[in-house]
Amino acid sequence: MINVMIVSRQEAAIRALRHFISEDPELEVSADSRGGESALEKVETVAPDVLIIWADENDPDAINLAERIILRKPRTFVILLVPELSIDIYTAAANAGCHNVFPYPDEGKELTDLIHRVYNAESGRLSALTTNQRVTWTSRVLTVFGAKGGLGKTTMSVNLAMKLASMKKKVAIVDLDLQFGDVHIFMDMDPKDTISDLMQDMANPTIDTIRSYMTVHPSGVHVLCAPKSPEYADLVSAEKLQTVLGLLRSYYDFVIIDTAANFTDPIITALEASTTILFLTGLDVSILKNSKVAMSILESLGQKKKVRAVINRAVEINSITIADVQRIVDAPILSRIPSDYMMAVAALNRGQPFVQSAPRSKLSLAVSDMAEKLAEGKDNFDMQQLSARERKAMMRKYRTRDASEKKGLFGRR
Ligand SMILES: Nc1ncnc2c1ncn2[C@@H]1O[C@H](COP(=O)(O)OP(=O)(O)O)[C@@H](O)[C@H]1O
Ligand SMILES: [Mg+2]
Repeated sequence: MINVMIVSRQEAAIRALRHFISEDPELEVSADSRGGESALEKVETVAPDVLIIWADENDPDAINLAERIILRKPRTFVILLVPELSIDIYTAAANAGCHNVFPYPDEGKELTDLIHRVYNAESGRLSALTTNQRVTWTSRVLTVFGAKGGLGKTTMSVNLAMKLASMKKKVAIVDLDLQFGDVHIFMDMDPKDTISDLMQDMANPTIDTIRSYMTVHPSGVHVLCAPKSPEYADLVSAEKLQTVLGLLRSYYDFVIIDTAANFTDPIITALEASTTILFLTGLDVSILKNSKVAMSILESLGQKKKVRAVINRAVEINSITIADVQRIVDAPILSRIPSDYMMAVAALNRGQPFVQSAPRSKLSLAVSDMAEKLAEGKDNFDMQQLSARERKAMMRKYRTRDASEKKGLFGRR
């Protein structure tokens, strides 16, 4: 049974659609709505398989609603019915992420066939993108954050992005180190426009507006570069940034945000908009002290649950162990990246990220492993939900010296 919800400002249209759909035994109308906020709420509670939006002649709300549902409820497939197809409508719908736009159907059979067709096509797409039975196709916003400069945030952002792009994902990087951003240096690019230019063109932005300010790297990664000079940083407002991130999310599979080590308004906005915060940390007391403070701020911002720790330059020195990091940072550890200064700096100076120039190096393999986990949604692990076997494997991976350390490792989640 396919559950359908209908949205239209016209009572008569709702009645007609209900009637058409009732003729098909495999379809059921589980709700309808006259639009607006209440439509959104209903979709939240009903979670229909298919949402039909019957748009009027001049109905920007319809596209707006489609966009919000597509972003929030990727399992609800949206069909937009319009009085007449035009390039303008098509473009507006596509920009909103809606590709199922059709003219009003003439008869019941046309409508029910359409519903089946869209449902089958979209479910097919969904399962094609499913790995290990986990649905991971909704776009992800990854903020690479850390409590100090020089931790390797930009190194990780850039190499992760490249690796994900090589896995056929659509990837964007936003350089939010607004004063001294250097993603373009790592990637050997000479940006024409930057995020500060975009900020001055935000009257009516679409994803195309934003993309026109991005720089394309040969790997396929698109970068919204940091301002050319620190004084332009102030042009980036939290509010506009939020709009930008929302639109980027509608287009890219992964939006990777590189940051500076501070809690400015734009960075807080990014943290809040993230699906995952990759929190870089390391094995020295100064980094750990700052990491602890930063984690408590993240907790007070209500963002702690999304944090996955990444330990960079993870050489075990006797004094500080991975277990200590786990205890202090108090977040699941997603990855441990080995230290290889020669490789990291050579790649930086050449402007060619190591996952590309030296894909078999230990450094690249560790970043690639992290990218694969992220692409497969395996970073969303919750210890309680892992099977006993998976839990054991995880324990083995992060084995520490004695039982008391293990307790610290897995006790508090
Ligand atoms: N795993 C690593 N091993 C060795 N050096 C690294 C590693 N990760 C990053 N680096 C180096 O550390 C320096 C700072 O890295 P960067 O990514 O610019 O940090 P951040 O963006 O946090 O300020 C760079 O010279 C980089 O090449
Ligand atoms: Mg940096």
